[in-house]
Amino acid sequence: MYNTVLTLHSLFRWLVLASLLIAIIRSYTGWLTSLAFTKQDNRLRHITATIAHIQLVLGLWLYVISPVIDYFLHHYKEAVHMRQIRFFGMEHSLMMLIAIILITIGSSAAKRKTNDKAKFKTIAIWFTIAMVVILINIPWPFSPMVARPWLRLGGI
Ligand code: HEM
Repeated sequence: MYNTVLTLHSLFRWLVLASLLIAIIRSYTGWLTSLAFTKQDNRLRHITATIAHIQLVLGLWLYVISPVIDYFLHHYKEAVHMRQIRFFGMEHSLMMLIAIILITIGSSAAKRKTNDKAKFKTIAIWFTIAMVVILINIPWPFSPMVARPWLRLGGI
């Protein structure tokens, strides 16, 4: 079970990043060239937020079953000084939670805006900040101390 959820969470990162990137490019284009906010734009906003929410569920699920987090929670005093364990127990989980909250706020604020330019602008700003937070807090293969693979395929 743990390996399956870890693999899904690892793969789902690419969907999170791809949907955010497409939504960000589209929203800057719409904002800066004054396009009409179409049904497809609204669908893209909704799908991007939904993918982020699925990743949140996978992350919370991992938090409950991961042996890394289990160690962190039960040996807090030592674990808080161990870079890799603290990263997943605190930094990664908290910062990703914040990023997903930013996506949720941006998505629902855009929905409530009444003109098209404001909808694009709201998505562009909130999603860009969330994207930066996510990129910084992913354990990339080149991340010092907390490196994880580009693709994890073994668990499913
Ligand atoms: C956009 C959001 C997120 C992205 C892109 C993301 C990405 C990742 C990646 C790439 C890994 C490494 C997977 C591997 O080892 O192959 C990972 C691990 C992990 N993530 Fe996330 N994550 C996100 C959100 C969250 C959230 C919100 C939580 C918890 C509240 C969370 C909890 C964890 C945990 C506990 C691990 C490590 C588990 C272990 O090694 O045992 N993640 N995440």
